[in-house]
Amino acid sequence: MKHIEANDPDVHRLILREEERQACSLTLIASENHSSKAVREAMASHLTDKYAEGYPGRRYYGGCEVGDDVERLARDRAKELFGAGYANVQPHSGTQANIAAYLAMMQPGDRLLGMALNAGGHLSHGFSRSHTGQLFEAASYGLDENTGLIDYAALEKLAQEHEPKVIVAGGSAYPRLVDWQRIRAIADAVGAKLMADIAHPAGLIAGGLIPSPVGIAHVVTMTTHKTLRGPRGGMILTNEDDLKQPLNSSVFPGGQGGPFLNAIAAKAIAFGEALQPAFKDWGRQVIANAQALGVALVERGLDLVTGGTDTHLVLVDLRAKDMSGRDAEELCLQANLVVNKNLIPGDPRKAMETSGLRLGTPAVTTRGMKEDHMVELADAIDRLLTGGESEVAGVREKISALASDLPLP
Ligand SMILES: Cc1ncc(COP(=O)(O)O)c(C=O)c1O
Repeated sequence: MKHIEANDPDVHRLILREEERQACSLTLIASENHSSKAVREAMASHLTDKYAEGYPGRRYYGGCEVGDDVERLARDRAKELFGAGYANVQPHSGTQANIAAYLAMMQPGDRLLGMALNAGGHLSHGFSRSHTGQLFEAASYGLDENTGLIDYAALEKLAQEHEPKVIVAGGSAYPRLVDWQRIRAIADAVGAKLMADIAHPAGLIAGGLIPSPVGIAHVVTMTTHKTLRGPRGGMILTNEDDLKQPLNSSVFPGGQGGPFLNAIAAKAIAFGEALQPAFKDWGRQVIANAQALGVALVERGLDLVTGGTDTHLVLVDLRAKDMSGRDAEELCLQANLVVNKNLIPGDPRKAMETSGLRLGTPAVTTRGMKEDHMVELADAIDRLLTGGESEVAGVREKISALASDLPLP
């Protein structure tokens, strides 16, 4: 960063502070990861300067021949990785991808059915303050409060009543597998399209570690920066021929102008990494770590929504501890464990307070953690939740020591 240091010491200091924050703490935020140095180099490349509105071979600017090859490479690798017939790698984010996908399948005013935010869905699945809840007439399905699993029977009933054009499945805090076939059957029965948002488990699906919705859902959207371990961004897949053109137009010119070619190059690198056998091993370890963390937390008397996990995250139910997610998050943060509060099914508290804590293993697995480390992390979390402030200094020392042994990529 010698040029930043010379030209802009203020920004240089901030970037160094962030690097140090990440290095000295452990990230258990389920939606975060540490991308490779190659991914970050691509983000900083000359591709950042190039305008390339349109698609490869059909651009509105000259000089796009390299950009065309970059985008084709990213698309080809994405298609290979997920076994899809079409990939759009231009969406700037997961939300942009979702809005573009909805508008390729329905009109403003049409009906959308998505998982409720307080059940682990995402803002872009029809939340009232998201454009997705304002553009579409959105209804939401939830979880069975006893099991914490998607209530498929209630979803089916709601689909029959609401008659949505699109059902969106997938979420941000759901630790279990989604039954894609079952939701597709529900969608078919009411004439809806199924959209699978795999932002969270994309890397696990790419690694073939959990079932893929590609070929089952009409459209699959995702972010590229969570378990997929790439740059911040979005992507859309489909195998439906009649949706390819609407999806292209909905991304550009519908919702975006020029694509970020630097990010697309970084996506290509991340997809290339994900195609290597080592990525599958990493994904397997992510799941093994989440399961080990869950078991160790339960052994220490903590409750987990659904009792455990099939994926990269566990959701701790703090009600028995009589502590809010906000207070738990703050305690962990003081001890250099970066986590986030989360609503749990039937949560009596509001979203800014919550009764749950979401813990994810992608970032710590990227730093090399294994099952034994998860027992140490569970121990640290239990000490904080049980002992409160008096445990912070001791746990912080332990977490800092663990972090200093495991450098960032
Ligand atoms: C399920 C799901 N969809 C979409 C998104 C949105 O991604 P972005 O923040 O890139 O807009 C997220 C982000 O957390 C997510 O969890």
